[in-house]
Amino acid sequence: MTDWAITASGLRKSYGDKTVLDHIDLAVAEGTIFSLLGPNGAGKTTAVKILSTLITADGGQARVAGHDLTTAPQAVRAAIGVTGQFSAVDGLITGEENMLLMADLHHLSRSEGRRTAAELLERFDLVEAAKKPASTYSGGMKRRLDIAMTLVGGPRIIFLDEPTTGLDPRSRHNMWQIIRELVTGGVTVFLTTQYLEEADELADRIAVLNDGKIAAEGTAEELKRLVPGGHVRLRFTDPVAYQYAASALREASRDDESLALQIPSDGTQRELRSILDWLDSAGIEADELTVHTPDLDDVFFALTDGADIPDQTNQPKEAAR
Ligand SMILES: Nc1ncnc2c1ncn2[C@@H]1O[C@H](COP(=O)(O)OP(=O)(O)OP(=O)(O)O)[C@@H](O)[C@H]1O
Ligand SMILES: [Mg+2]
Repeated sequence: MTDWAITASGLRKSYGDKTVLDHIDLAVAEGTIFSLLGPNGAGKTTAVKILSTLITADGGQARVAGHDLTTAPQAVRAAIGVTGQFSAVDGLITGEENMLLMADLHHLSRSEGRRTAAELLERFDLVEAAKKPASTYSGGMKRRLDIAMTLVGGPRIIFLDEPTTGLDPRSRHNMWQIIRELVTGGVTVFLTTQYLEEADELADRIAVLNDGKIAAEGTAEELKRLVPGGHVRLRFTDPVAYQYAASALREASRDDESLALQIPSDGTQRELRSILDWLDSAGIEADELTVHTPDLDDVFFALTDGADIPDQTNQPKEAAR
């Protein structure tokens, strides 16, 4: 049986006559990374704020760390950490002082606070910078300090609202590593992002939020299967073998220059097996066979431009371009 860190059903939130969240259902298993993906204004931050008790929903229910959001917000708060979209770091004081402030807020004793701060500064590679004003930190350092501050109370569930927005590729990869380590330590991570690559890289499950509704939910692989573009590519080195295969596989699209054929495929094991069986029976042996699934960009654009998901027309992506 799955232990759920977060469950929500029918969450609603409006500002004036603008519906920001329109009956959202979510379930996040303990010790996993869940990513809420969506364009600007989709409602990601609003969802994080509701689930972390910073604001209240207009309707629906949610449980976080086993506690009901409306009847036990204090218990929820004690179990979670939140790194907001906009930094909570105070630039006027040093990184260490920011950490000690958090320790105070969590009612740690002086010695325990110092120990925790030192440990986290070390873990996030901020020892050298610890005595400098946080305003002098780079974006990546500030983000690391932000997360270190979030971890002071030892939360079991952490909310990271766009933790890598504005970071350079190296800092982003460092942040991914930090997030993975958190999960290895048993923490559940609720992550919002606009970067498909990030969700693809990190998340066990992804929900695409669009215009206040969950447009799709699943693993990265499941989501990629929702959009056309998947295909199996067969490449030949022998032109004669290529010509033979091309005439036998009429539904394949041809790339005469690189002696390659593309067969539309949803990338499932079942379909791959039937393609392989068919190639065997036709006596076709390619020198290279690769399976291409559409990437999350395809999914994102298909789901967030307001259009319905098209039928599985299975146009090979290259041919569609
Ligand atoms: N306090 C508020 N008052 C009025 N409208 C709000 C308020 N907070 C959010 N909104 C509106 O709700 C919608 C969703 O905002 P939200 O910040 O949740 O989006 P987001 O997905 O986090 O976007 P971004 O990627 O830009 O951070 C937006 O249209 C925003 O203008
Ligand atoms: Mg936001």
